[in-house]
Amino acid sequence: MLQITRGWWRALLGLRARRGRPRRRRRRHHVLGRSRPPPPPPPPPLLLLGGGAGHGGAAGPGAAAAAALLALFAAAAAGARSPGAARCEVAPGDRFDCGAERLLSRAGCEARGCCYAPVGPGRPTGGGGGPPWCFFPRGYRSYRAENLTATAGGYAALLRRCAATFLPGDVGTLRLDVALETRSRLRFTLRDPARQRYEVPLDTPPAGARAASTLYGLQFNEDPFGLVVYRESTGKVLLNTTVAPLFFADQFLQISTSLPSHFITGLGEHLTSLILDTAWTKITLWNRDMAPVPQVNLYGSHPFYLVMEDGGLAHGVFLLNSNAMDVVLQPSPALTWRTTGGILDFYVFLGPDPKSVVRQYLDVVGYPFMPPYWGLGFHLCRWGYSSTAITREVVINMTAARFPLDVQWNDLDYMDAKRDFTFNKKTFKDYPDMVRDFHQNGLRYIMIVDPGISSSGPPGTYKPYDDGLKRGVFIQNATGQPLIGKVWPGPTAYPDFTNPETREWWYDMVKEFHDQVPFDGMWIDMNEPSNFVEGSQDGCPSNNLEDPPYVPGVFGGRLQAGTICASSQQYLSSHYNLHSLYGLTEAIASHDALVRVRGKRPFVISRSTFAGHGRYAGHWTGDVWSNWEQLYYSIPEVLLFNLFGVPLVGADICGFVSDTTEELCVRWTQLGAFYPFMRNHNDHGNRPQEPYAFSPAAQNAMRKALYLRYSLLPYLYTLFHKAHSTGETVARPLFLEFPKDPNTWTVDHQLMWGAGLLITPVLEAGKTKVSGYFPAGTWYSLAGDSTIHSKGQWILLPAPLDTINVHVRAGHILPLQEPAFRTVESRKKGMTLTVALTTDGFARGDLFWDDGESLQTFENGDYTQILFLATHGAVLSELLRVNGQVDGLLLKAVTVLGVTSPPRQVLANGALVDDFSYRSDTQVLTIPVSLPMWEQFAITWS
Ligand code: NOJ
Repeated sequence: MLQITRGWWRALLGLRARRGRPRRRRRRHHVLGRSRPPPPPPPPPLLLLGGGAGHGGAAGPGAAAAAALLALFAAAAAGARSPGAARCEVAPGDRFDCGAERLLSRAGCEARGCCYAPVGPGRPTGGGGGPPWCFFPRGYRSYRAENLTATAGGYAALLRRCAATFLPGDVGTLRLDVALETRSRLRFTLRDPARQRYEVPLDTPPAGARAASTLYGLQFNEDPFGLVVYRESTGKVLLNTTVAPLFFADQFLQISTSLPSHFITGLGEHLTSLILDTAWTKITLWNRDMAPVPQVNLYGSHPFYLVMEDGGLAHGVFLLNSNAMDVVLQPSPALTWRTTGGILDFYVFLGPDPKSVVRQYLDVVGYPFMPPYWGLGFHLCRWGYSSTAITREVVINMTAARFPLDVQWNDLDYMDAKRDFTFNKKTFKDYPDMVRDFHQNGLRYIMIVDPGISSSGPPGTYKPYDDGLKRGVFIQNATGQPLIGKVWPGPTAYPDFTNPETREWWYDMVKEFHDQVPFDGMWIDMNEPSNFVEGSQDGCPSNNLEDPPYVPGVFGGRLQAGTICASSQQYLSSHYNLHSLYGLTEAIASHDALVRVRGKRPFVISRSTFAGHGRYAGHWTGDVWSNWEQLYYSIPEVLLFNLFGVPLVGADICGFVSDTTEELCVRWTQLGAFYPFMRNHNDHGNRPQEPYAFSPAAQNAMRKALYLRYSLLPYLYTLFHKAHSTGETVARPLFLEFPKDPNTWTVDHQLMWGAGLLITPVLEAGKTKVSGYFPAGTWYSLAGDSTIHSKGQWILLPAPLDTINVHVRAGHILPLQEPAFRTVESRKKGMTLTVALTTDGFARGDLFWDDGESLQTFENGDYTQILFLATHGAVLSELLRVNGQVDGLLLKAVTVLGVTSPPRQVLANGALVDDFSYRSDTQVLTIPVSLPMWEQFAITWS
């Protein structure tokens, strides 16, 4: 068998069989996935792998060091249980934890064949504090690989466990499948071939034939098993699992890899800077109702990371696994995935630039849904609008104070006894009429819906529960009864959205309620799912799902903390496996119900999320505090969710928990005007924070910010179209646009909208200046009053209280529209183009336009798309596609930024424009026109 396998390897390597030569033990590495011979120079880790010592992995040692490592490896392979001193000589930052699941004494540690070296002030368990005291020696053997074969899509091998480990339910034989899915995407899975284990029910691209040529090369280490993925073009090792042993037990799966740089982002949802800290950071994923604070698991799980490599290259890794997990980052730099179930199912995305990495990730989990146009307007909410009268008054106040508003919301207040799909017949007596009146007024309406269904009323009094019970839609406890927890209405049962019958029942409930109250979207909250009692009203049984051998660093210390019992049963599997998918499955059910009920584009905002969420819904970042720190954190949150494919995201403007201040609320409204999802939401009992609740000066500043957003909506909508159709981001970190400028990699106090707009908000109290990083090039203030020619610099900008700095990047044309109080009005207003010329007089941009709310307009071809091009003193439009939706839309003005000399003559479609204006101090040319958007135009100046 071995011979045959070696034959395969030779074939794969393109090597000719060597006759008469002794086989050298060193040839334990093998190259897969190559469509052509290895590039010179050979990737560095090749010599390392047999030594099991590729810590850091990115650079190879000299031959002598390699030989020494091989000797160490040989000792390990001989089955030594207690490592020699040399094998324990591992730099603290390179140590991988051998006692992750419990504190070990020296004796306990050495009994595992591990090294013990207490180092202060580190924490004994490694991850979240310092190097582990008990760590794996070099060359520690866990699995060895056999029977490598080529398959249609790539390769397969069996992995045999070398010796029993310290973990219960250790799987003796694993199957490795490596699929070369596309040129830039590799997938590898590790499964138990003898037993079907839980796998995340995510709809991923089907397996196909092996890609003909790839950006990645692979190396395979036989014993101990390890996989190395490197970039063909540079030889850089991106992933190297030989750095630490693999574990695959029933409830403990662990795999480590080197990282090629410290610039790693992703792995949400956490309150964090954009770039993660590799100095022993433990990131726990297990969806949890938790007011955001750093270092704890929050509402969502996105096991995806992106790493920047030298020269602006980037790659990404996605672990398709929904179990409770820890991801540990350590200084080597390296990363360890430690999950409590499922299988190891990895995707590696080779980019080669960070934008492509995001798109390749979204190719797997799905592109974002297209929101309705009104969803990009301003949303106003609070917990405590306790009647229709008060809710109506809010809208009246907004109009009186001349603030745009598109969507009015209600929190729990509308419900009867806080029960879903009911409304309070006293305080919300005229609820249906209120919503209809809002519609008359051009507004939309959204209300909260929680998943917990009140279960305590007498039978026959509450249809959602009675009907749900009959139809078997609820998650079950150990005795097969609906598990009862406690949320706002008191005792509650939890719908199991993995059950098709539940989705039908949910649709029925949504429809019946919509028949009474014609709401426009759903706000799905508390869907981690949240539970005010631990596990259930009756506690949880005692079993290995409730008390697994390894509990990740979840807040509260137990899986049941703040949620339902892990061993409760769902249609597809145990809650233990499905927990972090709860919000996603509810979002899918709600999205689908809204499509069926309204026949229009759905709008769902969810607190809990999982990978792939953006296909169905948006997200708000939960119960953030009204403070400056959280104002800042909202930027990396929004940027990260864009990388996760959930572009429709925003934080509660002015903060949710505790009283806001006027200054904070102004600055938050300015930044919030650049959240893709813009909502002001407040907790009950706090000081009011609607825009009209502040001084005239503050209101003025907020009004300006809102008008600015409304004027930019055509650009924003076009960005959403690109996200939906091609997997782009809407709000994006600077490094996505300027990956070759390493100064941008850590910038997370600024954000971009698309490629063309840079936003530099004030994030500190009492400041009227703000410093921002401007990548090399020309940047025009959107107002046209200043220009920055940057060499790639930090620049101090004036930022009085009524101003947010917004700069247009030279080379871009933005479509804008005159603002109005509702998008239904602004959509009919005159359009303008802001043309930001490069120094050689070039710019381009586009506009996507449709009716703003029909389903699948792009897919059905029911839209208009216009390209704009500026060159040689002209701005031209080109109609890529036109439908009736742009009829009546007029281009009213073109503002050209960066016109270096005063024009003598301006023509629009050949006709003289005599009222153009030009300012030589700012080099801005303003051309008033009146041109139909549905026809091509040419505007020239000379
Ligand atoms: C928790 C949500 O995060 C918050 O936004 C909401 O106001 C409360 N639940 C009450 O529904």
